[in-house]
Amino acid sequence: MSDKIVAHIEANQKKYVDRLAEAVGIPSVSGDASYRHHVFEMADWLANEFTKVGAQVTKRPLGKQEIQGETIDLPPALLGQIGNDPAKKTILVYGHFDVQPALKSDGWDSEPFKLVHDEATGRLYGRGSTDDKGPILGWLHVLEAHKELGLDLPVNLKFVFEGMEESGSEGLEELVVSEKNGFLAGVDAVCISDNYWLGTTKPCITHGLRGCAYFYLTVSGPARDLHSGVFGGVVHEPMTDLISIMSRLVTPEGKILIPGINEQVAPLTDAEREVYNVMDFSLEDINSATGSKTTISDDKVSMLMSRMRYPSLSLHGIEGAFAEPGAKTVIPAKVTGKFSIRMVPDMDGQKVIDAVKAYVEDEFKKLGSRNTIEFKHDSPGLPWVADPNVSAQAYQHWNYEAAFRATEKVYGVRPDLTREGGSIPITLTFADTLNCNVLLLPMGRSDDGAHSTNEKIDLSNYIKGTQLLGTYLYEVASA
Ligand code: BES
Ligand code: ZN
Repeated sequence: MSDKIVAHIEANQKKYVDRLAEAVGIPSVSGDASYRHHVFEMADWLANEFTKVGAQVTKRPLGKQEIQGETIDLPPALLGQIGNDPAKKTILVYGHFDVQPALKSDGWDSEPFKLVHDEATGRLYGRGSTDDKGPILGWLHVLEAHKELGLDLPVNLKFVFEGMEESGSEGLEELVVSEKNGFLAGVDAVCISDNYWLGTTKPCITHGLRGCAYFYLTVSGPARDLHSGVFGGVVHEPMTDLISIMSRLVTPEGKILIPGINEQVAPLTDAEREVYNVMDFSLEDINSATGSKTTISDDKVSMLMSRMRYPSLSLHGIEGAFAEPGAKTVIPAKVTGKFSIRMVPDMDGQKVIDAVKAYVEDEFKKLGSRNTIEFKHDSPGLPWVADPNVSAQAYQHWNYEAAFRATEKVYGVRPDLTREGGSIPITLTFADTLNCNVLLLPMGRSDDGAHSTNEKIDLSNYIKGTQLLGTYLYEVASA
């Protein structure tokens, strides 16, 4: 990328921060029906911004969704394109403009949907700053810089931006499959900026993600909530049954107790072990990200493997449980326990669901309870690994080589090649449907607090990350 573009990006920092403030100001929470109109608002805002910098953008409806007992419209996906030169490569970029819920009362130090620029630390606080509005705006600003400097992009660029990623990407897979020979024809490789460095100082390029299967167990019996003084010891209590089942899913050391899950995991090879050994990562990184010293193991390789290449089961919450403060002596009549399993190769979504269902129903029978249990699941997001056998620091594909060179140019270091524990459900669909190489090129850092309180992106990551995305396109063009 020319020095002119690099300098232009440096010079426009303030404008980029203001634009991030606008984007963060739209509370586009996908998981809460009452916020859905803001996800639509965010789609309009982005479509307008990308149109202004020269992209042809279409909004594609994705149908309807059942949520909180209502049927509502899914937010549209944005499909965009700029450039159509047969002599150039075509890169597809993906991002999501929905965010996780956030309330100041969750423990934020500032209003989550009002960007705060802490000038002393250079941190930009706000929901979506790193996940994933900052990176989407990075692409926008690369396009804008070209337009303002009167330069052509070095590649043809297409983009798919969605507003349901944080809620399982409903509707998007069908669109991608149906546009395989339409809008998405001719894509040479995919670049996704929706993850983070492993630590706080060294950039990385990511070639794997875990998948996610989400489950709901509803135990019900009594027709209404009951007084525990009158009915305690007299009836089977739904919450007691549910907690009993939930306590049998995973041990406190993280061992999954459901038969048929661990058996599906691809075996570890010696070569693979070395990959984790050379990654720049320490116990301090994880402790600073959790703000605690609560790791199950203190061994770097075992921590990294637990995150990147083994499944995990997490308990998320219980709907209908009495969660408010105070000592209410109630027996809740109906409770729904929620948990998920992060999936890795070679786990199969249906086999995981079948194993969980059989185990839960079996264990429930053993309780001898007169309550009933209902088992539900979302459609599972599958794991993705571009190539499990790559050596520690090399990946021989022009897409990865371009990303490595771009990172070296912008940051002056050779990035680590990592896998991630989080999930981006559409990634495998891109790889399989478009039959092309996919990579993740992160903008933010491990301590950004995605999904957490006080989510932030550092100004330097935001600006250098924008330069990185631009430089990557030039390295692709010269590959
Ligand atoms: N940006 C994350 C994905 C991610 C998380 C990458 C952590 C690397 C590390 C994404 O927005 C996300 O949170 N996805 C959800 C998907 C789920 C709802 C299927 C996730 O991983 O929980
Ligand atoms: Zn994200």
